[in-house]
Amino acid sequence: MIKVIDYINTNRDRYISELKQYLAIPSISALPERTGDVLRCAEWSSAEMTRIGLTNVRLETTPGHPIVYGEWLGAPGAPTILFYGHYDVQPVDPLELWESPPFEATVRDGEIYARGAADDKGQVFMHFKAIEAHLKQGGSLPVNLKVILEGEEEVGSVNLDNFVRANHDLLKADVVVISDSAMFAKGVPSICYSLRGLVYFQIDVRGTKSDLHSGVFGGAVANPNMVLAQILSQMKDRSGRVKITGFYDDVRELSAEEREAWKKLPFNEKQYKKDLGAPKLFGETGFTTLERVWGRPTFEVNGLLGGFTGEGAKTVIPAVAMAKVSMRLVPNQDPDKIAEQFAAYVKDVAPPTVEVTVTRMHGGKPWITEYDNPFVQAAGRAIEQGFGKPPVFCREGGSIPVVSTFQEELQVPAVLFGVGLPDENAHAPNEKLDLSNFHNGIIASAILYGEIAKVQR
Ligand code: BES
Ligand code: MN
Ligand code: MN
Repeated sequence: MIKVIDYINTNRDRYISELKQYLAIPSISALPERTGDVLRCAEWSSAEMTRIGLTNVRLETTPGHPIVYGEWLGAPGAPTILFYGHYDVQPVDPLELWESPPFEATVRDGEIYARGAADDKGQVFMHFKAIEAHLKQGGSLPVNLKVILEGEEEVGSVNLDNFVRANHDLLKADVVVISDSAMFAKGVPSICYSLRGLVYFQIDVRGTKSDLHSGVFGGAVANPNMVLAQILSQMKDRSGRVKITGFYDDVRELSAEEREAWKKLPFNEKQYKKDLGAPKLFGETGFTTLERVWGRPTFEVNGLLGGFTGEGAKTVIPAVAMAKVSMRLVPNQDPDKIAEQFAAYVKDVAPPTVEVTVTRMHGGKPWITEYDNPFVQAAGRAIEQGFGKPPVFCREGGSIPVVSTFQEELQVPAVLFGVGLPDENAHAPNEKLDLSNFHNGIIASAILYGEIAKVQR
């Protein structure tokens, strides 16, 4: 192991220049005009997987963006890791807020800035380099390894779910390893044991055939903007509780132990508020901020469109208004059931003066695991060696739809060991990754494979 770590330390600069190439590919899965770039990124990933010594590397085409698969099965009798990551990234707008171009990775103050640096190419690449260190240095890995990357995580992983369902044998493994989340804070490495789920909807409100003169018709018809605001205002009460009928029916309450453990984490609420630039924090009464984002469901309005929003003033009653909304779900809420409850509730609160339609978009199930399983403990030991500190156990508010699919379809535990940081601007301008976390993460990942090899099955 010492030689593998030496190898990693010696090659530190090369890793960064290679990562820059990966980050240069604008693999934005949400934008149709980037389809060619997403494919190019899949091809770059597969070429890299071959370079580092994986075998049977191939692209699996889907109705959307390709899945990349590769393996190394040279450790008969040893456990098999299924490593999952995503090579697609979020759009970069607003572009003018980036201090350096999103697809020209730039190192400043020990951090690498680029779209995908933290979410998720940097963290995928960290594992590539850990794998490479084993295979180039000693010629073998201590475990069997299967790597599956997708190009549609940021758009809901629609095709990966079907691929997993149809390929149980190919993906058969003892444990899933994922690095697509954040550490609790700088210097506080963590293991994530739960993710929230997601249901996303578009709401369309139509009032009349066409826009109307607000003087000639104002007072005679309902205003779609107003109606939409009224519908949205029915979604949450003033204490931050979601009012959709039945919404909390299946919510798994936080345990007293969990709440106690979270109170001990080094969380500074004042600093958090300051970092966000919020005049005052807001959330469900009776819960702390960490409890609200990790362990409670929520309803959010992601976008609003309606009427005249240009410069100056225009006296108009818009014909239509639209909102994008989503709900983050916690165990044991079921996205399908919540979707039905949401649609029924909208129908209930919508007045008969307009036509309201709801269209369901992507989503995913929440996920939680017991963290006393031996693979999680193995990860704890590896992180302690890579970062010099044992990890804390966290939940996360974000979603990775395929994690629950892996659990249900393959019946294997998942270990989520992320090295991002909460302030690394994922999905925002100036996304970045701390290079010392990247480097320690390569070492921890290399050690992780060895620790997993020791797990008795
Ligand atoms: N890596 C994130 C999810 C995440 C963020 C996990 C922070 C843990 C901590 C992932 O790429 C993501 O952004 N997921 C989307 C899923 C959606 C598009 C279905 C999300 O959470 O919004
Ligand atoms: Mn991600
Ligand atoms: Mn993301």
